[in-house]
Amino acid sequence: MNKHPEKASKSPLRQRADEIKPYRCKNLIAVLENPKNIKNIGTVIRNVNALGVEKTYIVDSGKSLPDDWEEMRERKALSKTSVSAVKWSFVKRFDTTEACLKHLQKNRFVSVVTSPHIKGMRNEILHEADYTMPRLAVWFGNESRGISDEAVAASEFCVSIPMFGIIESLNLGTTTGIVLYEITKQRRAYQEAYKRANRK
Ligand SMILES: C[S@@+](CC[C@H](N)C(=O)[O-])C[C@H]1O[C@@H](n2cnc3c(N)ncnc32)[C@H](O)[C@@H]1O
Repeated sequence: MNKHPEKASKSPLRQRADEIKPYRCKNLIAVLENPKNIKNIGTVIRNVNALGVEKTYIVDSGKSLPDDWEEMRERKALSKTSVSAVKWSFVKRFDTTEACLKHLQKNRFVSVVTSPHIKGMRNEILHEADYTMPRLAVWFGNESRGISDEAVAASEFCVSIPMFGIIESLNLGTTTGIVLYEITKQRRAYQEAYKRANRK
């Protein structure tokens, strides 16, 4: 007899989605500020999905993306580079940095920005900072301009991955992978410890 009849009726993808649900990092958002390359957006969505980040927000001042999320899922370039992760991800777009910040502040999210440069009032090396605040939005800047002063001013601190080469910065896909790995690792450990404490 099948002990789990509900499993038999689910597709393997749906089963996998259910299995990984407890490991998702709740209240964690990756924010892309005016990314210009659609392939980079796809790579970031793949990273976000693979690492268990809850949502992606995109500031799209140039209005190059559709407002409607369903329509975004149909974009071939996005679907291809994200290896279809875009179908399983929540992505929301904003017209301006100000609108995105307002939305985050209204929902009591703390913002932190990322940059290869020293920015703002407080600067942290990636692996030395604590990312276990209840609601966190992590901002990544434009491929050439970097992060805006507006986002820096509204953020608690600025995170850097130490650089030891001639090159000034990492690309967006690589940065999101490294930064979100550290942050999701910390938040998952924290969520697990919290669950264990509540089980006692
Ligand atoms: C290609 S970089 C932008 C380079 C740009 N010339 C600048 O001044 O920031 C795109 C984004 O990746 C992130 N990034 C790149 N290298 C980083 C590093 N070493 N530490 C933290 N973030 C980094 C930042 O969010 C940056 O805005």
